[in-house]
Amino acid sequence: MKILVIGSGGRESAIVYAIKKSKKVTEIYCAPGNGGTADTAKNVNIKQDNVEGLLSFALENKIDLTVVGPEVPLAMGIADEFDKAGLKIFGPNKKASLLESSKKYAKDFFKRNSIKTVDYASFTNFTDAADFVKQKSHPVVIKVDGLAAGKGVFISNGFEQSRDILGSVFNEKIFGESGETVIIEDFIDGFELSYMVITDGISYKPLITGMDYKKIYDGDTGENTGGMGAITPNPHISKTLTDKINETIIEPTLKGFKNEGIDYKGVLYAGIIIKNDEIYVLEFNVRFGDPETQAVLVRLKSDIIDLFMSVVNENLKDCELVFDDNKSICLVLSSEGYPKKYKTGYEISFDGINNISAKYKYEYHIFHAGTKKIDGKYYTNGGRVMNICVNGKTPEIVDIAYDIAKKINFENKYYRKDIGKIYARY
Ligand code: GLY
Repeated sequence: MKILVIGSGGRESAIVYAIKKSKKVTEIYCAPGNGGTADTAKNVNIKQDNVEGLLSFALENKIDLTVVGPEVPLAMGIADEFDKAGLKIFGPNKKASLLESSKKYAKDFFKRNSIKTVDYASFTNFTDAADFVKQKSHPVVIKVDGLAAGKGVFISNGFEQSRDILGSVFNEKIFGESGETVIIEDFIDGFELSYMVITDGISYKPLITGMDYKKIYDGDTGENTGGMGAITPNPHISKTLTDKINETIIEPTLKGFKNEGIDYKGVLYAGIIIKNDEIYVLEFNVRFGDPETQAVLVRLKSDIIDLFMSVVNENLKDCELVFDDNKSICLVLSSEGYPKKYKTGYEISFDGINNISAKYKYEYHIFHAGTKKIDGKYYTNGGRVMNICVNGKTPEIVDIAYDIAKKINFENKYYRKDIGKIYARY
């Protein structure tokens, strides 16, 4: 089979890694890919938002299956276009993707389908939103409706701060169209977690649980990022809890899809908060999380192509999804300054790794993200640069990841020192 993976992050590097293990696959393309997928796949210089270009490439190259990593092409309707052209694609269609691309749509969906979510109101102008928030006790959560690359959620501690946020969204239009509608949500001080399932719209299969380290600094402090690391399994999630999440969130959602004629095929990633044993869904993403998917996929034992094809062909219930019973870690190496301003273009040296004489106890994987390859050398090309994943039975996975982190070098390298600490001796 010829496979096309869309995206350029660590998630897509890990997807390519998992696909390469399938005996059914003869060729893998990655569009646009990164410095790592230049080696593990064939990079295709087409951007993720060039749906027409991706479709032409897939048709011309007789691609058997396309796997979409990021949300942007899904929100643009890439699955609908591929479907129309008779091409197989893993990822939800435009209507289903509204669950991520419109927070108001998602909240209204939860309400219509009696799925417990945090109370909210939505607004399309500054005056009404400011009048509303003036009456509210703070903190409140202000979210822009559309896609904002993880930057459109604010916790506001007082009316003046809320007014400033609303002013920059509605009057200065800092999020453009994505900020034309705003959600104001009650703030819940609870335990947050994410939970991913694969669904063909008829049945679903949970992935192993992962814990994402969202903040930039150790001890979960500083700004939110896309994720600075992940571990599996999530030590805070029990089987009783996942059963309850399935029962109260996932199953009613699938029922809602059926009732509302939403044809959902792909990953359903729920952002959840728990307070006083009550489970609330905060939001849905319609794609694999990054970096948690990297930590998940290094533990996958069954064939990922079988999984993707069973979703496309709507027979997921007959597909075996098997993970090992290890633990895993994904440690992100980033460019200093991320998630704000950072410099790129620094050469990356792997000399430390190439010189390792003793073998590590467990296998490790290096998944590139913001990198590019020029004339056989690798350079930094993004905020999150590289990911080190280790899969094994003991907390030594954490030691190995940190040892490798010291051996990959580039100027302005930054990484958290407490990823996986919960397992180990850090
Ligand atoms: N790691 C969070 C996300 O993928 O949205």
